[in-house]
Amino acid sequence: MEKIISFCKRRGFVFASSEIYGGFAAVYDYGPYGVELLNNIKSAWFKSMVQENDNIVGLDSAIFMHPKVWEASGHVGGFADPLTECKKCNTRHRLDTMLEEAGISADEKMSAEEINKIFDDNIEKIICPLCKSKDFTKAKKFNLLVQSNLGNLTDDRTKDPVYLRGETCQGIYVNFKNVLDSTRVKVPFGIAQVGKAFRNEITARQFIFRTREFEQMEMQYFVKPEDEMKDYEIWREKRLQFYLDLGIKKENLRWHKHENLVFYAKEAYDIEYNFPFGFKELEGVHARGNYDLTQHSKFSGQDLDYLDPQTNERYIPHIVETSAGAGRTFLAIVSEAYTEEKVEDEERVVLKLPAKLAPIKVAVFPLLKNKPELVSKAKEIFDGLKLEMRVEFDDNGNIGKRYRRQDEIGTPFCVTVDFDSLEDESVTIRDRDTLKQDRIKISKIKDYIKSKLELA
Ligand code: GAP
Repeated sequence: MEKIISFCKRRGFVFASSEIYGGFAAVYDYGPYGVELLNNIKSAWFKSMVQENDNIVGLDSAIFMHPKVWEASGHVGGFADPLTECKKCNTRHRLDTMLEEAGISADEKMSAEEINKIFDDNIEKIICPLCKSKDFTKAKKFNLLVQSNLGNLTDDRTKDPVYLRGETCQGIYVNFKNVLDSTRVKVPFGIAQVGKAFRNEITARQFIFRTREFEQMEMQYFVKPEDEMKDYEIWREKRLQFYLDLGIKKENLRWHKHENLVFYAKEAYDIEYNFPFGFKELEGVHARGNYDLTQHSKFSGQDLDYLDPQTNERYIPHIVETSAGAGRTFLAIVSEAYTEEKVEDEERVVLKLPAKLAPIKVAVFPLLKNKPELVSKAKEIFDGLKLEMRVEFDDNGNIGKRYRRQDEIGTPFCVTVDFDSLEDESVTIRDRDTLKQDRIKISKIKDYIKSKLELA
């Protein structure tokens, strides 16, 4: 993990937030290559939902919502994790995570009484990760919603709190009727959204795995009540396939079934990835029943029934939810792709990303920096590609060094302009993984790369 963290910083993928001020706990910024990779992950997800399924539409709802949304959803009353404090070093910890790490089954959804009972029975096994003490306070439930004073123009900044959304799906539920009335969708249909969510997470460890500001990629699929479990199984399969298609190895993915369900849920599974610190949740797939629309109907006073145009039946649709974290997917993809290996008698770090996710698709090099005719030919190629794909021009250092720099950030192709190029209008194109070099016509570079990107 340390290697990945330092790599992400060194090569401009991820920086600690406000680093010049000493950082800001559990908040991170994505650097020049990081933002490209993150955007590619988010568009792969959006494409897999909205473009590949005729009955799924997109949405971008606001981060701020009416405070009643969070009462209706149950977040004001119950969106809380069990918090305990080490009496020796005064650090705060999530008790469910500490129990799980000690091999004891626990869940953040348990009541304070339930989890404290398990805590008492296993008190000897729980050790403070910082000072190694075994002396803790009883756990209490700590609400994770982040508050703001948006719209409060008084001096009392605690009055009428407005929340930053704790999950993006609530924006989908409250727009269910708008989407139904403004488009031609019919049940079953889905609404997909990518956006920021905020949680006052108790522990701020594990890099971008658990952050207080993060992005979710959520799709809510509205179905006939009797179809819920059938569609749930279909979505479980599709979601696992999504990660396999992004190049994650099957053996690094597994399902975790939730035994402790919230009362309205029918079934909930997590897709877990084998992160450098072990298997942990990457995405949740949930059969949520009709709880969400029922609650919003009750709290808003609006009718959120669906009238089936074929059968004239009226019902509140049930929901199958797929909920992934963009940052967690980023961390899984980088962990999977990061490779140290020996090639041509040299050690190299290479990010073996699928080409469609690579921040830079192709790098263009003039063989020698001090030969204006090579530089201008390489610039011409660079200019011809840059509006179609992300390209980098590099004339600094020997070719070997330039290859290594591109290998590290996962660039699948490097094009070198040499003296022959001036005569035969051809270049050398080198493959990041096989190291194979092909000689191709300059006029064919675009098609060559595009065909490889489609296959990737
Ligand atoms: N709407 C359902 C929901 O929000 P969740 O299990 O709380 O369910 C879904 O979150 C996904 O969001 C997780 O699987 C994870 O990928 C991501 N996620 C949740 N909390 C996160 C955090 N603090 N930092 C980064 N990603 C997080």
